[in-house]
Amino acid sequence: MISFSPIRERYPVETRSYEVPETVTEQLEPEERAPLVEKIKCLLRDRKAVIVAHYYTDSALQQLADETGGHVSDSLDMARFGYEHPASTLVVAGVRFMGETAKILNPEKRVLMPDLEATCSLDLGCPAEEFSAFCDSHPDRTVVVYANTSARVKARADWVVTSSSAVDIVAHLAARREKILWAPDKYLGGYIREHTGADMVLWNAACVVHEEFKALELEALRRQHPDAKVLVHPESPASVVAQADAVGSTSALIKAARELDASKFIVATDKGIFYKMQQAAPGKQLIEAPTAGRSATCKSCGHCPWMAMNGLGKLAACLENGDNEILLDPQIAARARVPIMRLLDFTKARGQAVFGTNDA
Ligand code: 13P
Ligand code: SF4
Repeated sequence: MISFSPIRERYPVETRSYEVPETVTEQLEPEERAPLVEKIKCLLRDRKAVIVAHYYTDSALQQLADETGGHVSDSLDMARFGYEHPASTLVVAGVRFMGETAKILNPEKRVLMPDLEATCSLDLGCPAEEFSAFCDSHPDRTVVVYANTSARVKARADWVVTSSSAVDIVAHLAARREKILWAPDKYLGGYIREHTGADMVLWNAACVVHEEFKALELEALRRQHPDAKVLVHPESPASVVAQADAVGSTSALIKAARELDASKFIVATDKGIFYKMQQAAPGKQLIEAPTAGRSATCKSCGHCPWMAMNGLGKLAACLENGDNEILLDPQIAARARVPIMRLLDFTKARGQAVFGTNDA
């Protein structure tokens, strides 16, 4: 049986508000799973398609991507893989901005998604018209936007960055004495500003998942596990980042779990990452970072409600019917392609960024 997500509540970000769905993962009966996986494998061959999945999606999707020559990675590497792979159809299991980035980079390819409603609180928190007005009020600033934005917002940007490249790119711009307008994630923006010293004005939006990691509860958990190292995604609040042994993109955190000298980690990012992190660090203990105090409730509880919308059933349906294709205004896409290509060219020239630490 497959279940879908009802809308649960409204979540305000300053004057902007949007709906956060309840996190509901696909429930399949054991006897439904194997035939569905076989069906998807046949459809992938038939449609000359490949799966590009994010680490936060269901482990069944990640496993299927691995088994069929697809790719599971962070948002930068998802974009790179789709750009370089010869398949004529990309099935992007993740959230909408990832599908849009794939389409912008590959206008000649068909890009499908299991669920087009799978968006991101950062994308929702940065409407294109308001963002454009913000840019108009700062004409002297270089516009740098996070990949977690719509095609229209990217079309207004000079640079697109991901968590794995943001510090390097802003440091490069700051060295050229460029002043930065940053959007949308205020926590990531603050982290970049602290690490580069760049002159930055910040948009005010946040990730519903990472914003909920709590510093006091994390301190208490660290006291219970004094031998654990702490891994934090930089979309988290500064008080949580301050306690990290490693800060970085999802790929960087997996690398840290594998390479750091510890057998126990407290992980402050979406719990979907545990599947690949455990594969990369077998035998090491992974503990979820706390999202709320005792008796409090959490909105996402450490798992992105939109990433959870991806499931095997919907993936089979979109491949079978050609549903949920990403279609973009060609002029917007052409404009958005410019700052995304800057990102790909910059990171290719510099090599992949490694994880940062608070010891640095
Ligand atoms: P990464 O690029 O680090 O995978 O981050 C994407 C994201 O949405 C994190 O919440
Ligand atoms: Fe967006 Fe946060 Fe979900 Fe990542 S985890 S897709 S930033 S809402």
